[in-house]
Amino acid sequence: MSQKYSRRDFIKTGAAMGTASLMGQGRGLLAGIPRAAAASIGIMRVVSSGNGIRAVDKAMEILKNNGDPLDAVIAGVNIVEDDPNDMSVGYGGLPNEEGEVELDASVMYGPTHTSGAVAAIKNIKNPSKVAKLVMDRTNHCLLVGKGALKFALAHGFKKENLLTDKAREAWLRWKETLSDRDNWLPAQIKKLPEELQLLMMTHGTINCIAIDAQGRLAGVTTTSGLSWKLPGRVGDSPIIGAGLYVDNNIGAAGSTGLGEANIRTCASFQVVNFMGQGMSPEQACLKTLEKISEKAKLSPPSLKLLNAVGLPSFGLNFYALNKKGEFGAACMWSGSKYAVHDGQKSELKECAFLHKSKA
Ligand code: GLY
Repeated sequence: MSQKYSRRDFIKTGAAMGTASLMGQGRGLLAGIPRAAAASIGIMRVVSSGNGIRAVDKAMEILKNNGDPLDAVIAGVNIVEDDPNDMSVGYGGLPNEEGEVELDASVMYGPTHTSGAVAAIKNIKNPSKVAKLVMDRTNHCLLVGKGALKFALAHGFKKENLLTDKAREAWLRWKETLSDRDNWLPAQIKKLPEELQLLMMTHGTINCIAIDAQGRLAGVTTTSGLSWKLPGRVGDSPIIGAGLYVDNNIGAAGSTGLGEANIRTCASFQVVNFMGQGMSPEQACLKTLEKISEKAKLSPPSLKLLNAVGLPSFGLNFYALNKKGEFGAACMWSGSKYAVHDGQKSELKECAFLHKSKA
């Protein structure tokens, strides 16, 4: 996004682009297809966080082969869960303060309005697949910790060590910085590769939402959560209404970023509700961020949710898709991208933003 735009300009531009891209999509998709066949083809879209370009490609491939939209988005995020180089999700995710990787994930399926989730699960690379089994094979919505692991093992999942050498090294460096009143010598941060310096405190995640040609909506969110968290900490990703929400009559929304700020506002539910009131996906994401930004001002200073000028000190992103196939995303601070596949091609797009980051 060009930095000369104000937020208001952006909202207008985004809305216009959404309409234009829909029109363009319609022309492109239907070109050369006999009229009767064209009439039976619905809109297909997949939207994901900025780390989800491979996820949207995979999910769209499945949708184009008449696959189920929930299977499609799960297969998409599995690529990132399996990737040791994405240190915010699945295998290779950054561990908790004790050096153990604990994962959270949720899925939601619009046509049946059902969901499944696991939280603080250890040693299972693909928590999104276990979340789907919670939805399909139990009458529960959320399994946590040991119970979630037992359930996964009962279904044939194999225990794996999820802590890569790179994640372990980042954890050790973090541990060494904690105190000068222990027996760990100070971390030599400046001697670390730049990449590890950046890893000192992170919260990453992947969200992926889709609509298929029959108008079926589905979504998944999966994460290793906040790095160095207290053992047992559960973020927004496995909480339906926070990290993910789908209403098949309206749309779907998901989130990445600081989970605590999201949970307190039930924010993905809020995004979908705003779309239900007639807002575009992008407007709904921005309006939700506005509410979160306002509520953060009430927080006690000890939570450190505000920066020196009284604005949110944390990052939070929302991704949204409505029943018509219109999509959008917004972030608390400018500079994030999101991934989208519109049925013809995948690309990374700039998120709208509530506050402009310093250049
Ligand atoms: N959004 C990821 C987390 O805070 O756990």
